[in-house]
Amino acid sequence: MEGVFFFGMQAGPIGFFDSGYGGLTVLREVVRSMPEYDCVYLGDNARAPYGTRSYETVYAYTLECVEQLFDMGCQLVILACNTASAKALRTIQQRDLPRLGSEKRVLGVIRPTAEAVGSYTQSGHVGVLGTTGTVLSDSYPIEIGKLHPNLIVEQEACPMWVPLVENNEIHTPAADYFVEYRIKAIFSRDPKIDTLILGCTHYPLLMPVIERHLPQGVALVEQGTIVAEKLRDYLLRHPEMDERCTKGGVVRFYTTDSPSNFDQQATQFFGSPVKSAQITVQHHH
Ligand code: DGL
Repeated sequence: MEGVFFFGMQAGPIGFFDSGYGGLTVLREVVRSMPEYDCVYLGDNARAPYGTRSYETVYAYTLECVEQLFDMGCQLVILACNTASAKALRTIQQRDLPRLGSEKRVLGVIRPTAEAVGSYTQSGHVGVLGTTGTVLSDSYPIEIGKLHPNLIVEQEACPMWVPLVENNEIHTPAADYFVEYRIKAIFSRDPKIDTLILGCTHYPLLMPVIERHLPQGVALVEQGTIVAEKLRDYLLRHPEMDERCTKGGVVRFYTTDSPSNFDQQATQFFGSPVKSAQITVQHHH
């Protein structure tokens, strides 16, 4: 599946990348709102989770997957993973894109979420839940601080949440325990929070559990719909990139681990049946 040439210009599907299944919650919303676009999803399940890995490792793995998506003809790649957006996006944009094709684009999920959060909060106090990597990077406080300097941001790392989701333990007392524990912790540090960002693409699956432990009147911000809306907006503002996105309504799924495991798990993230193929991500340089 190489990209196609279209009046001398290269065009291909929009690429979506996540360490595993989480990015499917973003892709689901993109397909819902822009069904005409071809999309390719790549989950690096063989090496997931990324949330507790070092900067160097997340950067190296993410770069390999982005190069893989470029090799498949993608001109635009969305890092549908907060950990990769926090730790690898800037370096890839600044250091690698000039070499890989300066007309290509890689976008993340943190910036669009930070943009949107201003319209949710009334108290001006915002909470961010994410992986350890995302929280330690301070990407959310930094991005929100640039766009909405008056907002007060409190973060909480929830290292057990991704394993709970990936292992299908959502409806267990264990999930209840770890969700309550983290929600209590963040609200004890700032009881004025009225907006809570799910800063990890796995977390929407825990929404019913989170809602059970949420103080009244707190809004949960889920990224899928925000990213889909911002992506549509981006393509309207960048017709030169929109022309480089093929529109046949085809969505393909690849995983670096077992496709049968992927297909079984993926449905609950994507909302409809998924048929994936295995791919080996090459080390390019
Ligand atoms: N889904 C990824 C995110 O949004 C994290 C999952 C992982 O730890 O690999 O941060």
